[in-house]
Amino acid sequence: MKLKSLIALAAGMLFFQSCTSKKTENNQNTDSLKMNKIEKISFGSLPDGRGVDQYTLKNAKGMEVKIMNYGGVITHLTAPDKDGKYEDVVLGFDSLAGYFTPPPYFGAIIGRYGNRIAKGKFTLDGKTYQLATNNNNLNHLHGGIVGYDKVLWNAQAIDGQEPVLKLTYLSKDGEEGYPGNLNITVIYTLTNDNSLKIDYTANTDKTTIINLTNHSYFNLSASKKDVLDHEVTLNADKYLPVDSGLIPTGELRAVTGTVFDFRKPTVIGKGINEVKDEQIKLGGGYDHAWVLIKKEANELSLAATVLEKTSGRKMEVMTTEPAIQFYTGNFLDGSLLGKDDVKYTKRFALCLESEHYPDSPNHPTFPSVILKPNEKYSTTTIYKFLVEK
Ligand code: GLA
Repeated sequence: MKLKSLIALAAGMLFFQSCTSKKTENNQNTDSLKMNKIEKISFGSLPDGRGVDQYTLKNAKGMEVKIMNYGGVITHLTAPDKDGKYEDVVLGFDSLAGYFTPPPYFGAIIGRYGNRIAKGKFTLDGKTYQLATNNNNLNHLHGGIVGYDKVLWNAQAIDGQEPVLKLTYLSKDGEEGYPGNLNITVIYTLTNDNSLKIDYTANTDKTTIINLTNHSYFNLSASKKDVLDHEVTLNADKYLPVDSGLIPTGELRAVTGTVFDFRKPTVIGKGINEVKDEQIKLGGGYDHAWVLIKKEANELSLAATVLEKTSGRKMEVMTTEPAIQFYTGNFLDGSLLGKDDVKYTKRFALCLESEHYPDSPNHPTFPSVILKPNEKYSTTTIYKFLVEK
């Protein structure tokens, strides 16, 4: 055979090979698009012996979210950096036991009432209710002693191109002092545009109060450093100043001219130690609710954006809720060893908890948190992960 024909033959074989391998790759992609089977593993047992499961949701891009039925906790959530590398961007523990010690609510569903209620007291239809004052013996925090972060939810995994984990829980009349049997459904959907969508719905058989949220702690550097250089934007021109027990005073204060102005991208470290600002002193940093700008109530709109420049990771938070609690991990003190033995020091993560205003039951001017028997509670929050190069 002449040299020319040999070269032609070799080129032909190479072409054939590359076509077939491309085909295999494509098949694999189509298969994984179709499959996205949710994996379920045992994540240990509760002290009373009940088993806890952990579910892994994967999307077509390779993003993974792990959620357990204890507290509906998001234990892991991966997001891509500018080189396409997916790494875990939420705080948590390697094993279930970590979640039993007095917890900072890592990744959990919070309820029946997210954030604080002054002195744990509120009045509904003329009746006064006393809840646990589990926050420094002063105020009620995150649903009480056994909030929704510490209960076992029923879980149903729904495979698909965009995997879904459906969690349900019946919070009985009188549980943690709240009135009404509350039937709750929380649906986690991992979409192919790298969003984790959380839909909360509920109904009650007696008039009650409700404010559900998720308490994930984000560190977009994948826990390589604290979050002081994360750049945050909040779509809010007012925030709620608090008293020394972190209860809103009732005032909606303009952010203009203060270190609470995040209308333009602002590095967290810039104003967080501005102790001349009384509110920074009271919060020990940022631990306040920002009042979101909305065209109309309950619209799903952009609430916050976070950018970590070294990795290029960006997170957008969209919500139907009227406010967002921006908390900068001020109470983390290095005493917790998290995943991969990383020490969770002060300001090692940030939370963006979509919510109604804290202590709303005691502020008639705040948007209502009352749910009546013939009504349906329904809110949505989306955490979307992008890259900025
Ligand atoms: C919320 C509160 C904080 C703190 C954390 C949990 O974000 O606003 O004050 O209690 O939860 O540690």
